[in-house]
Amino acid sequence: MVGEKSPESRAEKVSAQPHFHQTAPEIQSYGTVSHLLPLGLEEPVRLEMTEQLNLLLADTMTLRDLYKKSHWQVAGPTFYQLHLLFDKHYGEQVELVDAIAERVQLLGGVSIAMAADVAETTRIERPPRGREEVPVQLSRLLDAHQVIVLETRKLARRAIEIGDDGSNDFLISEVLRTNELQVWFLSEHLVKEPLVKAVESLSGAGTD
Ligand SMILES: [Fe+2]
Repeated sequence: MVGEKSPESRAEKVSAQPHFHQTAPEIQSYGTVSHLLPLGLEEPVRLEMTEQLNLLLADTMTLRDLYKKSHWQVAGPTFYQLHLLFDKHYGEQVELVDAIAERVQLLGGVSIAMAADVAETTRIERPPRGREEVPVQLSRLLDAHQVIVLETRKLARRAIEIGDDGSNDFLISEVLRTNELQVWFLSEHLVKEPLVKAVESLSGAGTD
């Protein structure tokens, strides 16, 4: 009958068999942006912002992983509180990673994703694989935060200059404020405070 499909052609189109091991060329190259998006932001603006946001993304993914390393490897009398604090900050950095990556995608770019690419891209110093003392862990985390805080402020100002108000607001409200708060929580652990007995003042000396 005219128009009736043969059993062979129907089997080609409808089948319960999954298709495994498929490959195809990329649909968009890294470092490019979609040409026309109804955002009112020209292609050169979106190219610059996605390139810079990808650097910030690589740094944030590195800091995220540094927090998990610290969470696992911490030792000493402050083990429990730092074990919990490092994991809390890790969770907040995970959320920032997702938000930065999705900002790159919504601007028409391609977000950096895999560990090897992140390691090649980040501006944060690579830590050793082994365990380090708590003050060294804290210093390393604070140095990483400082890289991110300085770059975020710079990028937020640039976003205003080139008309990307959305990125400016996101960078200040989410990235900068989260990092600034985490810096405070870490820094207070580096104040040398007596744990059991207060340091006596001169007038109170010899009264115990
Ligand atoms: Fe854990």
